Amino acid sequence: MDFSLTEEHEMIQSAAREFAQGEIAPVAAEFDESGEFPVETIRAAGELGFMGVEIPEEYGGAGLDPVSYVLIMTEISAADASHGTIVSVNNSLYGVPLIEFGTEEQKQTFLKPVASGEVNGAYALTEPQSGSDARAMRSKAVLSADGTHYTINAKKSWITSGGVARYVILFAQTEQPDGRATGISAFVVDTEVEGFMRGKKEPKLGIRASATCEIELTDYRCPVENRIGDEGQGFKIAMTVLDSGRIGIAAQALGIAQAAYEAALEYSRDRKAFGSSIGSFQSIQNKLADMRTRIEASRLLVLQAAWAKAKAKETGAKNTLNACMAKLYASETCMWVTHQALQIHGGMGYSKELPLERYFRDAKITEIYEGTSEIQRMVIARLETGLR
Ligand code: CAA
Repeated sequence: MDFSLTEEHEMIQSAAREFAQGEIAPVAAEFDESGEFPVETIRAAGELGFMGVEIPEEYGGAGLDPVSYVLIMTEISAADASHGTIVSVNNSLYGVPLIEFGTEEQKQTFLKPVASGEVNGAYALTEPQSGSDARAMRSKAVLSADGTHYTINAKKSWITSGGVARYVILFAQTEQPDGRATGISAFVVDTEVEGFMRGKKEPKLGIRASATCEIELTDYRCPVENRIGDEGQGFKIAMTVLDSGRIGIAAQALGIAQAAYEAALEYSRDRKAFGSSIGSFQSIQNKLADMRTRIEASRLLVLQAAWAKAKAKETGAKNTLNACMAKLYASETCMWVTHQALQIHGGMGYSKELPLERYFRDAKITEIYEGTSEIQRMVIARLETGLR
């Protein structure tokens, strides 16, 4: 067994770090403060292939592997978690349903412009009354009598990039013209078509630049060709997508934790109290030792989940367990590490002059979106015990 990155992965990691530290880190605080969507840096990320890392080049992506994706996500999120979120939605939540379940025409029309970073995509699963219990959605798509289109009425909330997305993957309960329910199905929705409306922008604690909003569809006419997969296959598509997405969020959590740890390490060397660097005090040393250890454990789980995803692609196996364990552990590590890093900085950690308070605020979402820690534990325990 060899735990080192390949030369190619090291090059991808350095390219991502150079871009993230050179272009994103300098504007992170400004976009956090304004809550504006960072259009220019996101388009620049697209030019480098970071908006469709695993999507084949013929569909506008970079054609790289899952390990490259987590390396890129970690570096971008270390510079700014808002950018990390936007990148992850394009890559995983929007890209995966189309690459795995889309038709050739859907890939050409709806995947290419998003994977190349020309426009943004979004993923609409959650509704005001259904978050963790995703199957309880009420949005409805009714097939027309002539079978050419669906009429969609939907209300979706917490849609990352919803404020700017050109296309949205949307899930709804489907019905035949005679009223027969056929389960949840997935659709690509064009936000420039009549009947689509963006709603309230969410005023959030963290990842403030990621344009999260409600969306509403009223009598929206969706051509039948824009359904992804079969009627009734939507929930399985949504869950398969989250198996990929959760690895990206784990990588995001790792990046935030890494940035907070590096800042705390440097500060503990420089800051003097009682005549010594605070890093020489055992109470600070214990924190640093635990932070580093938990971060390294997260890194191994993230890389293992990415590696296993590549293997699972070859064999057709599921990668749910690895994805959930990586997301659970890395997100809780991220929350804990950013808390400790802020504490090591004392009053300066609480100040907006340093990024510590932003890391701390951004960390929290990683324990919530793409399945809360409670949902990750539930899925892991169900898989382990075979019980529900
Ligand atoms: N892959 C494929 N199929 C899967 C699957 C997976 N990982 N997990 C479940 N399924 C299938 C099951 O096999 C089952 O199929 P059958 O009906 O044929 O048997 C079906 O889906 C239903 O599965 P469950 O009985 O397990 O469903 P459930 O309702 O008990 O619970 C859940 C499922 C795990 C709790 C799920 O609802 C869940 O993950 N909830 C959390 C939702 C979530 O993560 N939301 C995040 C929104 S996206 C987001 O955050 C976006 C953002 O802004 C970044």
